[in-house]
Amino acid sequence: MDPVKILAFAGSLRAGSFNRKLILNSQRLAPESMEMEIFALDDIPLYHGDREEPEMPAPVVDFKRRIEAADGLLIATPEYNFSFPGVLKNAIDWASRPDGGRILAGKPVALQSASPGWAGGLRAQLHLRQVLHFFPMRVQFFPEVCVGQAHHKFDGDTLTDPLAIENITKQLTVFVDFVRQGR
Ligand SMILES: Cc1cc2nc3c(=O)[nH]c(=O)nc-3n(C[C@H](O)[C@H](O)[C@H](O)COP(=O)(O)O)c2cc1C
Repeated sequence: MDPVKILAFAGSLRAGSFNRKLILNSQRLAPESMEMEIFALDDIPLYHGDREEPEMPAPVVDFKRRIEAADGLLIATPEYNFSFPGVLKNAIDWASRPDGGRILAGKPVALQSASPGWAGGLRAQLHLRQVLHFFPMRVQFFPEVCVGQAHHKFDGDTLTDPLAIENITKQLTVFVDFVRQGR
């Protein structure tokens, strides 16, 4: 069977972002049955309704093309003020245009979050899920990956926390089946 193709991105632009590191480590931990491509949101401009035509900005066109080509998405979100960041909402808003999210509808998605706080970004994930259900995307629920106290869980870029490593490994393995169910 062909590996499932996953497009992964984090809702943070910070070079030292814990959520970017989660994505990087997920690529390393992914099973052989998964091919993971990482996309950075850095070049996605602020959504502007007058810039949809005649063609959307090139980074948005590229982002949308990659979403469409992927069998599923992996999103790692920071938590900002008990929700997910504008950077991520902005990217999702572009991806949903101009047709109410045709490329997102039915697309499987797995979520992760990391935060220095105890809750590990769980509240951001809950808000994010609500938005993703609008299209509706197929959101995988278990196992949940919320990495709290994130500043103690990496050595450089490498995730060192055994529980987080185990959770992510399980999540990605379960995600392969979740994606294939919808094929
Ligand atoms: C505007 C702002 C609001 C934040 N609000 C929360 C919050 O509600 N809960 C939380 O756990 N951390 C909060 N934080 C801390 C972030 O979790 C922390 O900066 C984290 O490292 C951001 O993710 P990143 O490392 O992927 O960039 C906030 C940070 C910022 C900049």
